[in-house]
Amino acid sequence: MTQPPAARRVWAVVPAAGRGERFDASALARPKQYAALHGATVLEWSLRALTGEARIAGIVVALSAGDEYFATLACARDARVSTAIGGASRLESVLNGLAALEGRAAPDDWVLVHDAARPCLTAADVRALITALDGLALDGGGGGCGAVLGAPIVDTVKRAAEGVVAETVDRTGLWRALTPQAFRFAELKDALRQARLAGVAATDEAQAMERLGHRPLLVKGSASNIKVTRAEDLAAAAAILSTAEIPAMSDSKPPSVRIGQGVDVHAFGAGDHVVLGGVRIPYGQGVLAHSDGDVVIHALCDALLGALGQGDIGQHFPDSDPRYRGADSRVFLREVAARMRSAGLRLVNADITVLAEAPRIAAHRAAMAANLAADLGAAAHCINVKATTTERLGFIGRGEGLAALAAVLLEA
Ligand code: CTP
Ligand code: MG
Repeated sequence: MTQPPAARRVWAVVPAAGRGERFDASALARPKQYAALHGATVLEWSLRALTGEARIAGIVVALSAGDEYFATLACARDARVSTAIGGASRLESVLNGLAALEGRAAPDDWVLVHDAARPCLTAADVRALITALDGLALDGGGGGCGAVLGAPIVDTVKRAAEGVVAETVDRTGLWRALTPQAFRFAELKDALRQARLAGVAATDEAQAMERLGHRPLLVKGSASNIKVTRAEDLAAAAAILSTAEIPAMSDSKPPSVRIGQGVDVHAFGAGDHVVLGGVRIPYGQGVLAHSDGDVVIHALCDALLGALGQGDIGQHFPDSDPRYRGADSRVFLREVAARMRSAGLRLVNADITVLAEAPRIAAHRAAMAANLAADLGAAAHCINVKATTTERLGFIGRGEGLAALAAVLLEA
């Protein structure tokens, strides 16, 4: 069995202490990060893709001293979200956010810094960035220093001088730097401190790293990940959010119960055991699978993802990904469990049926339920595992493979 997916931890810092001077906040009476946007506030949208990402261990939001708005937001009660006091510049706010991770983050942990003013960040872009970081980590850590989301510039670019066009700038190789930008905790802290010492007003993390000779990876992100800077940007952000395939935040409070179901099938192949519900059961054959072929956990993950409205297991852990070869499926279940928690849901019960002519699983049911309960943070009595043969009918009856069905109920 190969190692589970790269395990370097990931944190996030969200600078949200700006005054929004270019936004004309006087018209709003509150800073732009708290402006109403598509059923919520700018900041809630900006945090959404981060709180939805199971790999992120904790998120520090840097707020201006005396901020009276954040505590009123639902995300303030997310167990992974904490706050720090921001500073006089974005750089200072990020440094204060990093200081709040002291003692929690290891020097080599990744820290994603994301502007509170970028509400259109997608979950897919966060995932792409983290996948790029995992690639750097697999290099042995010596390679890339980090990665930033960016978008190639598509417009013709002019340099202006005194209100007229001075020249057309060659846009080849020009990108807009977006956020999140991700670097190793200790290196980022050091680079920002050095920028501050040198009086460099770095407006993003990459700039502070670049001046020390680092070359961050550019990860192509959605051009829609705009920064709300001027008042008119708010309407553009609302338009982007309303066309995105995500429910409006006002409707996104999960209904009190959610149902999901999942199915998985594997053929028998060479081997001397099968793994079901994380229990190794000796048998005359194994299963043909990219991972450990645990049909119970795969069906359960699919049922949970179904209940969360988050697609299926193949989307999150593609079998084309070499990291998942021979993987312990309990890693998948724990990640899906984190997604369930960050959606504010918990397991009411799961009912699982194994369809197999052999091996007999009766003796292993309790151990399976205990494993599944541990990974889901649920009591073992919430999980029922049962089995049936198919009376020698069909591929299961002929002993060519086995299958599992799972149904789950979640509640807020
Ligand atoms: N920011 C911060 N602390 C500061 C200044 C900015 O945390 N002292 C944050 C902002 O809240 C924002 C991000 O950095 O999420 C990007 O900054 P920007 O868009 O420039 O926001 P503001 O500084 O608020 O706007 P302006 O420059 O127009 O005043
Ligand atoms: Mg600013």
